[in-house]
Amino acid sequence: MDHFSYKDGVYHAEDVSLELIAKEVGTPFYCYSKATLERHFNVFSRHFDDVGAKICYAVKANSNLGVLNTLAKLGSGADVVSEGEIRLALAAGIKAENIVFSGVGKAATEMAYALDQGIFQFNVESEPELRLLSDVALSKGTKANIAIRVNPDVDPKTHAKISTGQKESKFGIAIAHALPVYKLAATLSGINVQGVSVHIGSQLTTLEPFAQAFARVRQFVEELRSQGFTITTLDLGGGLGIPYGGEEPPLPDAYAEVAKKETAGLGCQLIFEPGRMLVGNAGILVSRVMYVKHNDGGRIFVIADAAMNDLMRPALYDAYHHIMPVRAADGNAPTELVDVVGPVCETGDIFAEQRLLKVPAAGDLILFRSAGAYGASMSNTYNARPLVPEVMVHGSQYAVVRKRQTYAELLARDTIPSW
Ligand code: LLP
Repeated sequence: MDHFSYKDGVYHAEDVSLELIAKEVGTPFYCYSKATLERHFNVFSRHFDDVGAKICYAVKANSNLGVLNTLAKLGSGADVVSEGEIRLALAAGIKAENIVFSGVGKAATEMAYALDQGIFQFNVESEPELRLLSDVALSKGTKANIAIRVNPDVDPKTHAKISTGQKESKFGIAIAHALPVYKLAATLSGINVQGVSVHIGSQLTTLEPFAQAFARVRQFVEELRSQGFTITTLDLGGGLGIPYGGEEPPLPDAYAEVAKKETAGLGCQLIFEPGRMLVGNAGILVSRVMYVKHNDGGRIFVIADAAMNDLMRPALYDAYHHIMPVRAADGNAPTELVDVVGPVCETGDIFAEQRLLKVPAAGDLILFRSAGAYGASMSNTYNARPLVPEVMVHGSQYAVVRKRQTYAELLARDTIPSW
């Protein structure tokens, strides 16, 4: 459930009209609902209250400080993949003791920064990374708390580009070969082994892959313990899908039941890294139709002022985002198969191909739903298009939580060499 709805025929975020924001902020813009963020965090986390799990929000899904601060106030930790994300999480008020650091390519400087801040855990993804981390920790006279991210070789049954837990993937260490790496870790004096971590993919719409992966990890924890390792933390990753269109992903209670059942009796501190589930349906992208163009091939193009650089998911993963008018279409408007596209000079700059819609007119506002996750955080300035603003609504108020990038800022990034 979210807090976006039509009121008197105009789409609102909570109690604020999107027409009003468009008038004051301009288009395109991202709009987040604070009440929806809070609701999603609470709906997820309450199922783990009984086991005292750490919920470490995956910052990559949406790294806006306003979003992070909303989650920080609810007690969220952070799953980060770079020094930049650590800095954002800390700036938003997330405590270092609730930060886990994931990713296949952590740099020595990033490790040093994370150690200085006193983060909770490094999720180590390779043997060379483990050795480097030990050296960095030793140079600071400290030890790094680690889990090894194991790869359980489970098909998450999601899009290939967001699958991470199969043996062909770059992520983690094959579970079958992880024991020697734990043994190595035990010999490195800059390392303190504390746990095991796993993450098999994103936008999972069934529970079976989670159950399979968690069961394999459980077996592995038991094996490690039988070999004398003290394993106190178990990071089960993120990945729970959300409804974009017709999918019916499992609800958090069913997911929690599987996670708790598969790990029952281990006595580990559980960690979860949800991203999309918390923010995906708490955000939308609002855009203005610039032109409606008919071509010889019989196609109708709705040309929006948002483009693939603002929301990459359709171009990158053929992702579906529901498209709606901000002002409810009048019942008599014609319904046609249209292509909704952006102004970027790429054929792939398509939000929706042959989608049945009431054809909007130039000047109309439209919106893309479910754009809170991997929307703004993946946006870029391709075609020299400034980054669009982000707005957060709270009841009847709104705040610009990232202002529109100016052309001056865009140009200031580069320098012309003296020669
Ligand atoms: N933990 C780790 C180690 C991850 O790699 C990810 C996501 C998450 C947690 C959060 O997963 P979530 O709960 O959001 O599914 N850009 C793609 C999604 C990439 C996901 C990458 N890893 C998209 O737009 O669909």
